[in-house]
Amino acid sequence: MLPGGQGSGGGRLGLLRWLGLRLWSRRGTLVFALLWFGSWLFLNGLVLVHRSIMMSDYCTDDKSQRILQRLCVEFGEGVVTGDMCEDMCVLGLVDYKRCLYYENGKKVMEGRWRGKPIILKSKLENFSSYEPLGILDYQDAAEDVSPLDMVFYATLEVRNSLGLAEADEEEEEGGRGGGGGANSSLARLWGKKLKKRDKSFSRAELASLWSLLQQEEYTFLRLLQDLSTHVAKVLGSCGHFYAVEYLSAGHAWDQNIFSLEDVVVPGRMGRDRAGPRGRWTSREMVHRIALSFLDMVWHFDNDFAHKLHLCDIKPENFAIRTDLTVVAIDVDMAFFEPKMQDILEQNCSSDDDCNFFDCSSRCNLSRRRCNPRRRNTNLQVICEKIFRPWFSPTLLGAKAGLPLQVELQRAVQECSETDGGVDEREDDAAGGRPGGGSSSRDIHQRLLNILTRLLHEGGASDEGRREREERGHAHTSLNF
Ligand SMILES: Nc1ncnc2c1ncn2[C@@H]1O[C@H](COP(=O)(O)OP(=O)(O)OP(=O)(O)O)[C@@H](O)[C@H]1O
Ligand SMILES: *[C@@H]1O[C@H](CO)[C@@H](O)[C@H](O)[C@H]1NC(C)=O
Ligand SMILES: *[C@@H]1O[C@H](CO)[C@@H](O)[C@H](O)[C@H]1NC(C)=O
Ligand SMILES: *[C@@H]1O[C@H](CO)[C@@H](O)[C@H](O)[C@H]1NC(C)=O
Ligand SMILES: *[C@@H]1O[C@H](CO)[C@@H](O)[C@H](O)[C@H]1NC(C)=O
Repeated sequence: MLPGGQGSGGGRLGLLRWLGLRLWSRRGTLVFALLWFGSWLFLNGLVLVHRSIMMSDYCTDDKSQRILQRLCVEFGEGVVTGDMCEDMCVLGLVDYKRCLYYENGKKVMEGRWRGKPIILKSKLENFSSYEPLGILDYQDAAEDVSPLDMVFYATLEVRNSLGLAEADEEEEEGGRGGGGGANSSLARLWGKKLKKRDKSFSRAELASLWSLLQQEEYTFLRLLQDLSTHVAKVLGSCGHFYAVEYLSAGHAWDQNIFSLEDVVVPGRMGRDRAGPRGRWTSREMVHRIALSFLDMVWHFDNDFAHKLHLCDIKPENFAIRTDLTVVAIDVDMAFFEPKMQDILEQNCSSDDDCNFFDCSSRCNLSRRRCNPRRRNTNLQVICEKIFRPWFSPTLLGAKAGLPLQVELQRAVQECSETDGGVDEREDDAAGGRPGGGSSSRDIHQRLLNILTRLLHEGGASDEGRREREERGHAHTSLNF
């Protein structure tokens, strides 16, 4: 088909010249045809790969709406329930918008509930695909299950799915008691909330709750709801579907990671300081988001009974609220310390065998086993993968030379490199060695300090210029 294929015939020179002429006159057409063919092949390949990955389960509006209709039929039959069911199935207050994602049965859809944007999620399409709650089989159909029994089962399930060994928790509770602000037994905390109910649970309630508890993400989010602003809020549920707040997810291709157009500026400071539209500059927003990242890291390291490790750090796995708080949205790769240690402790012949995505440890060569303690930290990976691209000199342009910016770049660079030896230092007493280089804690403090100063500086000095800039390009605010 291609001209090259005919080159083997006689009169090679003539043919070549002929081809050359043809090519010359039709080069445009040929190039176009080749490109077209190429992209056709590429697209076909893409669709094939896509289909096989998704197991020919791609997301269509039609399918999604049928799934929700089935859910409502089950609600009508009294099989499932939840605080969102009536709004969804009777009052029509939940609108389906579009589907976002199907993978191996996992459903993620966008919708609106009473006018508020939400994300609807379920790990499996059908309620019947979840394992039924065993005790319902033994229980008399008329008899409801006491909240106490439910607490027992739910707590077990939560511990299991998050890898919080019971023994560990007791130990932590006894050991840490006063210090560190450790928020003792996570699973028990959740149990307490269930226990507050004196009414017993109906079968539909139990079955629905049970299907939700089989979804690790739901369990994780519920557990941390009141403890953390850095996880998505669970707004409600119906059967095996739960709704979380809609957030603006990050993108690798966006220079600012997050699209900052939708951000609303809070009244107090914003209105009297910022421009006529009451907006922050995108630089200011990036600084504020960076501060929220720091807050999140600190919080995940210190505020739970077990450290929470984020093992898949990339822009797509974080989102922001309109108030610029950072939220970790892919919690499938977030592990509490006990589970982290289980994951890391593998046979090894070198350090390379001890990496689990962004979480890594060292190979103990005498034991040929990876150290169960993680070597790097959440902060280190965030510096490397989020902060460094954000604050790189090439993106900053002329502003890169400002002293505070230089200081920030240096701190970020150092933070990305404070890899080795972090865990040894942390194994020492909580105070660590005062003069011993930059520990994770020091570098956190330094970044916090620089970013805070940058925010102050931005607010105080170039206010006039900022306002002018704002008026000038309201829509190009993506570029600092
Ligand atoms: N609260 C949210 N607000 C807005 N978008 C969201 C929210 N939660 C998830 N998404 C989007 O929905 C999609 C899939 O969601 P989710 O991250 O739960 O699936 P996942 O299986 O964990 O994805 P992955 O396999 O990529 O890790 C993602 O593209 C994400 O950006
Ligand atoms: C879900 O249920 C529907 C209707 O009962 C069925 O057609 C579909 O195959 C089921 N899906 C899965 C993944 O089991
Ligand atoms: C747990 O955290 C909450 C809020 O963060 C706090 O009020 C409470 O005192 C903490 N409990 C313990 C035991 O540290
Ligand atoms: C790890 O090594 C031990 C012996 O050193 C061996 O018994 C065990 O099977 C190995 N485990 C795996 C998963 O290879
Ligand atoms: C390796 O493991 C052995 C046995 O548990 C231990 O004594 C040693 O200190 C470890 N080495 C390192 C470098 O951690």
